[in-house]
Amino acid sequence: MQLPSAQVAVLETASADEAQSVDALASATDLPPETVTGAVFELEEAGLVAINEAVDETITLTDEGAEYADEGLPETRFYEAALAAGADEDPVEMGPVIGRSGLEGPQVNIALSNYARKDYGVIDSGEVTADPEADPTADPELVALETLAERDEEVDADSLAVDGDVLDQLERRGLLERRETTVRSVTLTDAGVTELMAGISAAETVGQVTPELLTSGEWREAEFSEYNVEADAEVVDGGNVHILRQTAERVKDTLVGMGFQEMEGPHADADFWINDCLFMPQDHPARTHWDRFALERPTHIDHLPEDLVERVERAHREGVGPDGEGYNSPWDEDFARAIALRGHTTSLSARYLSGEQIGDLEPPQRYFSVEKVYRNDTLDPTHLLEFFQIEGWVMAEDLSVRELMGTFEEFYAQFGIHDIEFKPHYNPYTEPSFELFGTHPTTGELVEIGNSGIFREEMLEPLGVECDVMAWGLALERLLMLMYGFEDIRDIHGTLCDLELLRDTEVTY
Ligand code: PHE
Repeated sequence: MQLPSAQVAVLETASADEAQSVDALASATDLPPETVTGAVFELEEAGLVAINEAVDETITLTDEGAEYADEGLPETRFYEAALAAGADEDPVEMGPVIGRSGLEGPQVNIALSNYARKDYGVIDSGEVTADPEADPTADPELVALETLAERDEEVDADSLAVDGDVLDQLERRGLLERRETTVRSVTLTDAGVTELMAGISAAETVGQVTPELLTSGEWREAEFSEYNVEADAEVVDGGNVHILRQTAERVKDTLVGMGFQEMEGPHADADFWINDCLFMPQDHPARTHWDRFALERPTHIDHLPEDLVERVERAHREGVGPDGEGYNSPWDEDFARAIALRGHTTSLSARYLSGEQIGDLEPPQRYFSVEKVYRNDTLDPTHLLEFFQIEGWVMAEDLSVRELMGTFEEFYAQFGIHDIEFKPHYNPYTEPSFELFGTHPTTGELVEIGNSGIFREEMLEPLGVECDVMAWGLALERLLMLMYGFEDIRDIHGTLCDLELLRDTEVTY
């Protein structure tokens, strides 16, 4: 007869005369107890072994039980203190008895209720009497506790000559714990003995069906291994495009769908493109050295279009138009040539609008970029030192705030966001200017999501643009917060990011 190897091992180890526990079989066969239990059930079904089940009860003392075994039960200690105070002769006051007993806190109540239950005496109106006949040292509860304490940690209940009621009482008092386990012992049946004598061998199980097995017909005889469809499989995390990148792609698709073309340009750029072209005065606080990430090498840009530099400088000094006003502050070309990481991608807009990047543009035009910008901010749940800005602008005759707001409503609606709010704002390069806010889906707080406006004459004229341009910079990370409910930008970005969240969040389309 052929059987799986675990069953063979059990059968060869089991005896017809002497029952053996599963644990004994497990150590004799060197198989895990679960495997032996499984094999034993299979063998029982085949009629080769018999299983006898017994419920085994083990008892352990709780910490409190062990303490009483050592120091005496609270009621015993109370009785002794009462005796010492003469309560066997006359009633004595309870307070001093408690003091003498050394009992504290909840133990006092435990002592008093058990004192009465065990008839050690009477407690009435704050006075105690003690029955001189009582013998607390022979108290069955105490004796049981002491017996348990003397034995090993776990005690087989059957081996303990203690009354069941006493054990019940001790269990109710929380002084011991009882645990029941099923112990299975195994004996060979007559059929088992017969099979053993006839000879059994371990069946080789087939794990995989092969073409040979099928064509040879051997499959007919083969014993197939069983599948464990409930086994835990290892989780394999494959690579994944970061949700920021995925959302950036989606934003790009959306803007392309709205008729925009993509801008490209340097991450490190001359201040001229980052600030001067935007009519940002050179003494503007945002241009101070601690707010920018300057480059050590190269420190300055080689090429700037000379006529543009001249026009930008004139706008800064004198303003534009007949009634124009400039800043009346110093303007230094060397300062404009200094290179830093861009704090916004409006530097790209300046490059494109000036004609420097892809030549002169005729209206209407729509351009965007979804790219990284760098700011020396203080890290907090909504600020990082770098983030993705969704830059965009529309060049056309006669643009108004309605077109600007309408564009945002159309854009955000495609991400399921319909409650954009606008607040008046100030930028040196736009007039009017608006900040955009959205409502955080879980906290309900207003989150700033972008900044926008209509570019001023002082910016557009030097760039050579003769019609209106409306423009904006939106934060991609803030859009994600509104879409997925993140509260801390550092969950998705940087060294502290939450990998589980990044793995599990699916970008919705
Ligand atoms: N540059 C602005 C910022 O970084 C965004 C902006 C771009 C505002 C264009 C108005 C016009 O916040």
